[in-house]
Amino acid sequence: MRQPIRLSDYTPPSHLIERVDLTFRLDPTATRVTSKIRFRPNPARPGADLRLDGEDLKLISATIDGAKVEVAPDATGLTLPAAHLPDGPFDWQAEVEIDPQANTALEGLYISKGMYCTQCEAEGFRRITYYPDRPDVMAPFKVRIESDLPVLLSNGNPAGQGAGWAEWDDPHPKPAYLFALVAGDLVATRDRFTTASGRDVDLAIWVRKGDEDKTGYAMDALKRSMAWDERRYGREYDLDQFNVVAVDDFNMGAMENKGLNIFNSRYVLASPEIATDEDYASIERIIAHEYFHNWTGNRITCRDWFQLSLKEGLTVYRDQQFMAEARGGAVQRINEALTLRARQFREDGGPLAHPVRPSEYVEINNFYTATVYEKGAEVIRMLATLVGEEGYAKALDLYFDRHDGQACTIEDWLKVFEEATGRDLSQFKRWYEQAGTPRVRVSEEWQDGRFRLRLSQTVPPTPGQPKKAPMAIPVALGLIGANGQEVAPTQVVELTEDEITLDFEGLGTRPVPSLLRGFSAPVVLVHAPEPGALAHLLAHDTDPFARWEAGRRLALQAAEAMILEEAPADPAWLAALAPVVRDESLDPAFRALMLRLPDDETLAAHLADRGTTPDPDAIHAARRAMRRAVAGRFDADLRGLVNALAPVVPYSPDAASAGRRALRMTALGLVAQTDRGEMAEVVFKAADNMTEQLAALACLIDAGRGETALAAFHDRWQQERLVIDKWFALQTGHAQPARAVTVAEGLSAHPDFDWTNPNRFRALFGGLVGNHAGFHRSDGSGYDLLADWLIRLDARNPQFAARMSTAFEAWRRYDSARQARARAALERIGRHARLSRDMGEMVERMLE
Ligand code: TRP
Ligand code: ZN
Repeated sequence: MRQPIRLSDYTPPSHLIERVDLTFRLDPTATRVTSKIRFRPNPARPGADLRLDGEDLKLISATIDGAKVEVAPDATGLTLPAAHLPDGPFDWQAEVEIDPQANTALEGLYISKGMYCTQCEAEGFRRITYYPDRPDVMAPFKVRIESDLPVLLSNGNPAGQGAGWAEWDDPHPKPAYLFALVAGDLVATRDRFTTASGRDVDLAIWVRKGDEDKTGYAMDALKRSMAWDERRYGREYDLDQFNVVAVDDFNMGAMENKGLNIFNSRYVLASPEIATDEDYASIERIIAHEYFHNWTGNRITCRDWFQLSLKEGLTVYRDQQFMAEARGGAVQRINEALTLRARQFREDGGPLAHPVRPSEYVEINNFYTATVYEKGAEVIRMLATLVGEEGYAKALDLYFDRHDGQACTIEDWLKVFEEATGRDLSQFKRWYEQAGTPRVRVSEEWQDGRFRLRLSQTVPPTPGQPKKAPMAIPVALGLIGANGQEVAPTQVVELTEDEITLDFEGLGTRPVPSLLRGFSAPVVLVHAPEPGALAHLLAHDTDPFARWEAGRRLALQAAEAMILEEAPADPAWLAALAPVVRDESLDPAFRALMLRLPDDETLAAHLADRGTTPDPDAIHAARRAMRRAVAGRFDADLRGLVNALAPVVPYSPDAASAGRRALRMTALGLVAQTDRGEMAEVVFKAADNMTEQLAALACLIDAGRGETALAAFHDRWQQERLVIDKWFALQTGHAQPARAVTVAEGLSAHPDFDWTNPNRFRALFGGLVGNHAGFHRSDGSGYDLLADWLIRLDARNPQFAARMSTAFEAWRRYDSARQARARAALERIGRHARLSRDMGEMVERMLE
């Protein structure tokens, strides 16, 4: 395989850029791009050659200071030898031809449904023109677009337009990965925002005709994001226009291009009829995320791609703060813990584990991971916990003051915290350098009125990192007394050694420790609670996260006993759920989360963690039995909830309404375990919103009576591609495990299955992979089917194919027969004729 790129090999750029002028003459198969770049030798690298990156470009002509130059491009770019370059600044001008129509990788300039668009992060700009495509080269850009299409957009402020052309001027120096261009027959929803200092900003959300009635929520989220960043971080917007464009064919969620954010249309378009509450929440979060990048990513960018978490970890942390304020902290935090554990812990515990700041990569696209994003955000959250609110605010002010306009490193980031707070963060830095999820073991001792907690830590070995040094772990904890009163309020203990001991004196009775409150660190807690302790916390803990966690642990214990000992559902667990089902004073969203049992994948991870080999079929059976037990025990209450929470007012996507629907649909799902979907049928027919319609449809499929409803659903929504995605995902996701592969195969032959569209591919195969017992069929048919399709996809869209291959990352968790089949599937992918660098690296790491 290709030589990896190493952090330790970083060298500054040979030349800096003073300004860039680009002209695009758009044509579907022969677009001409002219670039005029004013270079200046970097005094830090005297006499160095100038290397320009370039891939799949046809060079038409090149000049330096107006004089024609002969250059011989290779497969990845061209080199201008120092000997042939002027000593001072000079103008490089080049014309290239590119073929957007043939661009199926969705990187660089491509066409989606007749609309030109670009995706340049991380290294896509080199598919547009020859350029030093690295984030530490920043420059102001001017762009001219020539095309007959009515809407022509690029970064920055509009600088003129006429028949068949438009010009854009972006005065803020930026790296090439933030360049964007969009051209098409688009319509805008417009609004305005006035910044705190009085700058009027024109806002526009651009969509294809027919979608203009689905932009309201995104626009609302955008204005709230802009106001929030002013209020919480003192950060204003800095251009006259802010454009958002929705694109149907897009590899990821969205992209923060300066002044011209480009979104996967699923994260922009919403109406009550077609979007679920979850969709609304994703739109809100991702709109905020991309907007927040304007300061954390764009104005302050990354020196090199190893520093990716500098912008992504921080921007995720910021979008989490925003969402906590918009939708309620406790529920938001529980959801964050759920995703972190499901995605990041799994990555961190397998062959793809890597530090938040990786030290080498073959293909950078493979490092846009849960570790860089979500664990990166957790690291910043811990930092904020350790330095306190004031310290965090001081450090961030210093960060923006000192580094505005620069390309920075994690070291720069940590240094502002050290200077602002006087703390030494050398040990804390290990969070960026050591992979693996730390284990924190806790043991208790109660003697003569003294309660002692012993906390110790270990960090498991990960690929390339067999030995680990102790981490600095903030553990938030409190004590709940036997009478249910809190006897010690939350304190944050810093576990910096291998082991520490904490004593609590003067307690009359033995307390119950409430540990890792608010999920204060991304660690696995290893603690065997006293009998009854979890139920006690579930009933009395003052920290909502810890309260939810207690219920979660009870459910995991119950599941474990059912799977391994074929025990019946634990009566103590069922009894502990009673207040959750009945207590009307609790937040409905919180109750819904409490009633949502750990999914199959979580149970498999839990068993593997405890040293047993998970059996997907046994897990699936146990989970169903658990749900049936809850449904049986609380039948009347659950039906009562479905009835009491029936919608009385028109749909509104706000958090409180969404929380009531979540509880109602959770209750409905449980009722369907015992009434064979009778109630779900009624809800499905009456539903006036996608949240309830989809949830009820899932119940009907689970109950084995989804056929008619599925057909009706398809009929009704066949013109709405985002809804048809849901139709695919639901069927593979909810198929009986024994039939899941057959269902997926059948759907892959459906006329609506367009495998070249990432959303559609992800719907079908993401659904299958999420159907744990279905994907992990013992005969290997799930692995084989996915491998077939990944091979096909890899030849067309390597970035997306490699991302989908992470479905295999936990393959070593399972029994030897399954392992053999997964290995064979991975090896087959690794041997295919058009194996990409992206996929080659993934397969190699997973097989290592
Ligand atoms: N920077 C983007 C974000 O976090 C994500 C991103 C990186 C991306 N590479 C991409 C999006 C490629 C689409 C395609 O918001
Ligand atoms: Zn981001």
